[in-house]
Amino acid sequence: MRVLVTGAGGFVGPHLRRALQAAGAEVLGLGLHLHEGGIDIVADVTDATATAAAVAKVKPDAVVHLAGLSSVAECSKDPMRAFQINASGALSVVQAVLAAKSPCRVLLVSSGEVYGAAAGTGPMNEQVLPDPMNVYGATKRAGEIIALQHRHQGLDVMIARPFNHIGPGQTPTFVLPSFAQQLAAVHRGGKVTLEVGNLSAVRDFSHVQDIVDSYVLMLSKGKAGEIYNLGSGVGRTIESMLQLLVAQSGREVTVKVDPKRLRPVEIPTLIGDVQKLKALGWAPSRTVESALGEILEEMESRAR
Ligand SMILES: NC(=O)c1ccc[n+]([C@@H]2O[C@H](COP(=O)([O-])OP(=O)(O)OC[C@H]3O[C@@H](n4cnc5c(N)ncnc54)[C@H](O)[C@@H]3O)[C@@H](O)[C@H]2O)c1
Repeated sequence: MRVLVTGAGGFVGPHLRRALQAAGAEVLGLGLHLHEGGIDIVADVTDATATAAAVAKVKPDAVVHLAGLSSVAECSKDPMRAFQINASGALSVVQAVLAAKSPCRVLLVSSGEVYGAAAGTGPMNEQVLPDPMNVYGATKRAGEIIALQHRHQGLDVMIARPFNHIGPGQTPTFVLPSFAQQLAAVHRGGKVTLEVGNLSAVRDFSHVQDIVDSYVLMLSKGKAGEIYNLGSGVGRTIESMLQLLVAQSGREVTVKVDPKRLRPVEIPTLIGDVQKLKALGWAPSRTVESALGEILEEMESRAR
């Protein structure tokens, strides 16, 4: 199986490449810049012509569309650009696959953030009607609608709604790598004042390996036209994740709230019900503790 992965040079891309290769697939990465690494084809998914040319050239059996503006804050800063990348980009990809006129599955990577205000206090299944609360969630929901519409034109498309995933390779613009970077700046046994945002938000965290394994499983077992939540099904406060990280770090920590790190609109609780994914045969194989350890190790080796 030949798989084209868009956005292959980001955080998730290299993990997905390894998981697909381990499953015997040939992987080609599409992205904006060769220097990101893991990029075989340079193309901007907001450029429909370039995207169509890339898909026509590769003739993939499957496309995993990871490319996107993945930061909630960045999307809010420039909603138009976010819409172009996350929604128009999805349109380019599905149109390119249809135009290639050869059998190809599309796995569109959306986000659990689409649930927004619909999120209650417990795990939500895929029947819950999304109600995005931020630009990121809205653009991801738009991408889903665009992609699913194309199933009526014969496209074999599935939607993944992953919740937060963590592991090595994620930039410190995200909360846990940011904490780990601040801890790693001080030697073990030392004292750190950590700048934090809202620690009470509850999120569903997974090791990135469990998420990419879910993508591989969806490609072989997922049903066309369906939406799947991907996550752990367990809610954890950011504070509890910070405590796990601090315990592994061996540093003494004082916490200081930095108002710049507080989001204007925060979804209090976001947890996925992952029974539908489990029914495909999925089970987690990693722990968030191991992901935190790997992030810390990465930040410490960078700080050396
Ligand atoms: N990491 C998470 O916890 C998480 C959670 C839910 C959903 N997601 C989604 O999963 C996907 C992958 O996440 P990630 O953490 O690897 O994100 P990332 O930001 O690290 O990587 C995204 C990649 O897309 C590329 N890209 C951006 N605009 C592009 C364009 N116009 N054309 C081509 N490539 C472009 C970037 O260069 C980058 O390499 C994203 O769509 C993200 O929204 C991630």
